[in-house]
Amino acid sequence: MLTEAPPAGALLARLRTATRPAHDKLEGTLDLLDERLGLEAYRRVLERFYGFWRGWEPQVAVLFQDAAFLGPRRRMHLLQADLATVGLSAHAVRMLPTCPLPVLRNAVEALGSLYVMEGSTLGGRVIERNVERCLGLDGRRGCTYFAGYGTGTGGMWRSFLARLDQVPVTDAEQVADGAVATFERLAWWLSRTGQPPTPSILHLAAPCFR
Ligand code: HEM
Repeated sequence: MLTEAPPAGALLARLRTATRPAHDKLEGTLDLLDERLGLEAYRRVLERFYGFWRGWEPQVAVLFQDAAFLGPRRRMHLLQADLATVGLSAHAVRMLPTCPLPVLRNAVEALGSLYVMEGSTLGGRVIERNVERCLGLDGRRGCTYFAGYGTGTGGMWRSFLARLDQVPVTDAEQVADGAVATFERLAWWLSRTGQPPTPSILHLAAPCFR
């Protein structure tokens, strides 16, 4: 049976509506646009993002099974480099706590999860400017994660949206579920209050994905 694709942009509009409150809350929680952003606060944010990515990146790779699409979207190594620049040894990085994985059941939910992390590159340039102003770190050194794809950001986002446009209408809800689960888990992890919002798959030991 043929499944109908939704009109171009319909799924994106749905994702935006479903995740906007979570985005705004997260943006407000992070101090990254603080005009007096200090090195300690910046380092803490990098540590938390690393704790998320070290589980999430391999999780999505397993679910998604598309190395050609995911390869250029891997960014955990950028966090490792930035953490080294702000003074963490390789051992200290390995010992950082790992975020319990968001519950993603299949490739469709993983695509929704990817929407969150790919979309986060759109605000990265704004963050990079503030980090540079406050700390003298930029997309070449110390702020490579938030600088993301640099001048390639627009192109990477458009190619991601082209992938979203291929999703059959019957899968739209699952994509949104994956996005919301990811935003919720990340918001919890970055603010580190309370219990995880949904059941967790816990990393019992800090894994080392190399
Ligand atoms: C200080 C922190 C942040 C700032 C300043 C920021 C800012 C922005 C900006 C300016 C956009 C582009 C909006 C547009 O062009 O219409 C955007 C989009 C987006 N951001 Fe953030 N953001 C921040 C944090 C995050 C975080 C932590 C995440 C999730 C990991 C995130 C996920 C997204 C997503 C998914 C979009 C795409 C929305 C869409 O066009 O569908 N953002 N953000």
